[in-house]
Amino acid sequence: MESNDLYLVYHGLFVPKITHSEDSLKYFETFEVKDDDLFVISYPKSGTTWMQEIIPLLLNGGDFTPVQTIPNWDRVPWLEETRAALVMDKLRSPRALVSHMPYHLMPSTFFSSKAKAIYIGRNPKDILVSSFHFHRMASFLDDPGTLEEFADKFLTGQVLFGKWADHVKSWRNPDLGDRIFYITYEELVQDLRGAIGRILCFLGRQLSADALDRVTEHCQFKNMKQNTMSNYSLVPQVIMDSNKSPFLRKGISGDWKNHFSPEMEAKFNAAIHEEMKETGINFTWDEE
Ligand code: A3P
Repeated sequence: MESNDLYLVYHGLFVPKITHSEDSLKYFETFEVKDDDLFVISYPKSGTTWMQEIIPLLLNGGDFTPVQTIPNWDRVPWLEETRAALVMDKLRSPRALVSHMPYHLMPSTFFSSKAKAIYIGRNPKDILVSSFHFHRMASFLDDPGTLEEFADKFLTGQVLFGKWADHVKSWRNPDLGDRIFYITYEELVQDLRGAIGRILCFLGRQLSADALDRVTEHCQFKNMKQNTMSNYSLVPQVIMDSNKSPFLRKGISGDWKNHFSPEMEAKFNAAIHEEMKETGINFTWDEE
């Protein structure tokens, strides 16, 4: 497999060496997906960590023990990362897993299973800004340069897990039918309780109104920021330096407006429009 000092190149996609290895990717490819597994699928910086908080609460009837005692990366592990093989035995069914992989690279048993998936999308402009700050604080990622330079890399797919548009398009595969539920970061920001209610419905689960209130409160940005099991404060500062930028950074939608110049916005919009124009996929942020 090709690599440089920081990344492996997996089917043309950059993945960080600190969390991925040839073995972990082999484990991913040959993983035996079970029918009751639940996948959270995201392009990086779309709200993965948020879902790693929400989903265990919903699958465990609102029990806070997992989110208060297990770090997010072991609680809902990335199937392609090295931790997956180490913690898989400890996961109770139904297992919740996350993945940043595009649809066509999923393990073959995913396609033959009935496993469900929740795809969390986010405005790519906010993803770019979030990722830019993440690259500044994480020593295992390359220096992003200026935001303009980083935007060029983002738009041509020279970033982790390739082009945003390719990822989104891959997961719109009609073969998935009602096995997949699409939700956006923006919907979670706008009405977290309502969004959690819809996720519960998709999972065929229920919580009492009180439990739903408690779960919603716990998953608010200000509260998750305090949870040492989810705010990445367990990671040594040489690896993630929260003085440069905290992992749970702003937690809002539309922060791109504080970062983009009009020229950059025009270039970004044109490139994304070109990628998405014939897909029929519309997002609320397209109107902004
Ligand atoms: P920002 O950098 O814009 O703040 P991922 O987990 O996929 O890497 O995504 C990280 C982004 O999700 C960060 O965005 C982070 O702050 C945001 N996030 C995580 N938990 C959140 C929450 N409870 N509420 C709002 N945003 C949250």
